[in-house]
Amino acid sequence: MIGRHRHLIGLEELDRGEILQVLQLATSMKEVLRRPLKKVPTLRGKAVVNLFFEASTRTRSSFETAAKILSADALNWTAAGSSVSKGETLVDTARNLEAMRPDVLVIRHAASGAPRLVAERVGCAVVNAGDGAHEHPSQGLLDAFTLAEHFTRAAGGPEAAPDFGLLAGKTVAIVGDVSHSRVARSALHCLPKLGAKVRVCGPPTMIPAGIERMGAEVHHALPEAVKGADAVMMLRIQHERIGDPLIPGTREYSKFWGLNARKAAEWLAPGACILHPGPINRGVELAPEVADGPRSVILDQVQNGVAVRMAILYLLAGGGEAHV
Ligand code: CP
Repeated sequence: MIGRHRHLIGLEELDRGEILQVLQLATSMKEVLRRPLKKVPTLRGKAVVNLFFEASTRTRSSFETAAKILSADALNWTAAGSSVSKGETLVDTARNLEAMRPDVLVIRHAASGAPRLVAERVGCAVVNAGDGAHEHPSQGLLDAFTLAEHFTRAAGGPEAAPDFGLLAGKTVAIVGDVSHSRVARSALHCLPKLGAKVRVCGPPTMIPAGIERMGAEVHHALPEAVKGADAVMMLRIQHERIGDPLIPGTREYSKFWGLNARKAAEWLAPGACILHPGPINRGVELAPEVADGPRSVILDQVQNGVAVRMAILYLLAGGGEAHV
């Protein structure tokens, strides 16, 4: 259980204490990742099924890696090559895989609400690995973990013990296609609960109406959005969720909302870090020299994704006593 919850569908329903429960356990899990022998028996005998109806590199492989480090068995199912092509429904697919007795189903689906629908119809725990433009809760948690790690490092604290209290009062600017971003939505449900302020910035057609009600400060000009921010999260344009074009073209987009080395040097605070959930469209929202530069914590996000997903699987698979 994560606090009161037997599933992880979104960060909207998690309170501050429940978010901290996962983040603090992820700190112990990250210590396992630093060991030469990255294997603990914590979830021996448990099984995790990754049910991915949409493409993924980071999320699917890190849930699989997390399960294996904890000694759980991991099965990777993808829609391509499955009986979905013969007309099998989401719920039938999930219930048939559940009949094989997994402890956790990790689901990614293009439809917002798909993981909740499955959670209402199966007996095992369900984790939302990204549903449409709704939420991507494990990404929201790994982003919070990465930010705390960065702020701890910047304050001269021990990297191995991120201080989540340091998120309080910090400003995070999220830039790009916020309308179609489940990553942005999960960040907006997570970071303010940890005391951080969130700004969103992008073309007016990519900022949802009423997002201020989620606590976001809205900007349309990049210089003012990133000015004084402690962290900047760049997002790609979610072409797969966009029907009619929302911008004149990627060149204009890059000019006004993309970040390159010159803009970063001129506009960002000296210690501000740069995040991106991936995949990056290099040269569009983020120039390669920034993605790979000293401010970037993008690969920290990927590594922390394993630790955070270990914590999520542990809590939802009922790992019992922590042998980490
Ligand atoms: N951040 C993220 O969800 O990446 P993938 O689509 O590769 O899983």
